[in-house]
Amino acid sequence: LSVKQFDPDSIARIFAIADQMQPYAHRKKRTRVLDGAILGNLFFEPSTRTRVSFGTAFNLLGGEVRETTGMESSAIAKGESLYDTARVLSSYSDIIAMRHPKAGSVAEFAEGSRVPVINGGDGANEHPTQALLDLYTIKKELEHNKLGIDGMHICMVGDLKYGRTVHSLSKLLSMYSNVRFTLISPRELSMPDDILSMLDSAGHKVHITEHIEGSMDADIVYQTRIQQERFATAEEADQYRGKFRLNNEIYTRHYKPNTVIMHPLPRDSRAEANELDNDLNQNPNLAIFRQADNGVLIRMALFALTLGVEDLLQKYETDVIW
Ligand code: CP
Repeated sequence: LSVKQFDPDSIARIFAIADQMQPYAHRKKRTRVLDGAILGNLFFEPSTRTRVSFGTAFNLLGGEVRETTGMESSAIAKGESLYDTARVLSSYSDIIAMRHPKAGSVAEFAEGSRVPVINGGDGANEHPTQALLDLYTIKKELEHNKLGIDGMHICMVGDLKYGRTVHSLSKLLSMYSNVRFTLISPRELSMPDDILSMLDSAGHKVHITEHIEGSMDADIVYQTRIQQERFATAEEADQYRGKFRLNNEIYTRHYKPNTVIMHPLPRDSRAEANELDNDLNQNPNLAIFRQADNGVLIRMALFALTLGVEDLLQKYETDVIW
C-alpha cells in the first residue's frame, strides 16, 4: 500500500526475485506457478503501463487477469462504498491491483478485501510499485556507471506537489545513506513538507530551487509531467506547462555526459508541454523505456512474494513453445 512498508533488506529481496524473473519476462522460459490464480485489475483512473504490466506480469506467472476499468462501469457509480466493493470483488480474485484518484482510497479498499491488495497509485499520495521499479532502474543504471544508490545525487524536476511517483521514490531513497536531492519546481508545485521533513531527519542534503542551474553533477535527472488531472482547472495547470523542459540542448549544457534521464511516463507530447523532448530519444542515457520494461519484472516479483510462490518458480517451469 505504501513504500513505508519496506526497508533496504526487503527491497534487496524484491530486486533479487525481479532478477530471477528475467528469463520468463524475456520469453526464454515459462513458469506456470500461478496456474489457476486470478488477478483482479481494478483501474478507476487512466493507465497504460501500470495496468498492462500488472496484467502481463500475472500472465507470465501463469495466472489469469480480470479487468475493471473506469468508475462509470462499476457499481461505485451507483454509490457503492469501496469497502463493499472490496468484500465482493475479493471473493472473485486471489489478489487485487488497484488505482483510484483519491489519496488513501486503496488502503480503504484493502480494509474490506479478503485478499492482498497492491496499490497502483492513489491520487497524489503514492505509487509504490512505480517507486520500486524506479529504484531498481536507478540501481541498474548506476551500476553501469560504477556508482551506487548510497551517496548518489538525484535531481527531481517538475510537478513535485502532485507527482505521486516522486513522493514514493523520495520516501524509498530516504532509507539509504547520504542521497543528495536537488528539487526543481515552481514554488507552488514544490515537494510536500512531510516528505521534506522525512529527508531532513534522515540526514539527506536537499537543495530546493526554481532554476535548473545547480544540477550539473546529478547522477540521475528524474523529469515529471504537470499532473493536470489534479488541478482545479485546465487553465491553472496550463500556467506551469512547459516551464521545465528537458531537451538535448539543455541536457548537454546542464548535466554531465553520463547523467541518467528518467521519467515515470506518460510524457506530455503536446508542443506546449513537452517536458522531455523527442530529440533525446537516441541518447543512450535515456532510461525511460528500460524503466517501463523493469515494471514487469518488479510486479512479477511482488506477485510471487505476496502469494508466497517465489521459491516455486523453477518447479513449475516449462519450455517455451514458440
Ligand atoms: N507510470 C505510470 O503510472 O504510467 P501509467 O499511468 O500509464 O500507468
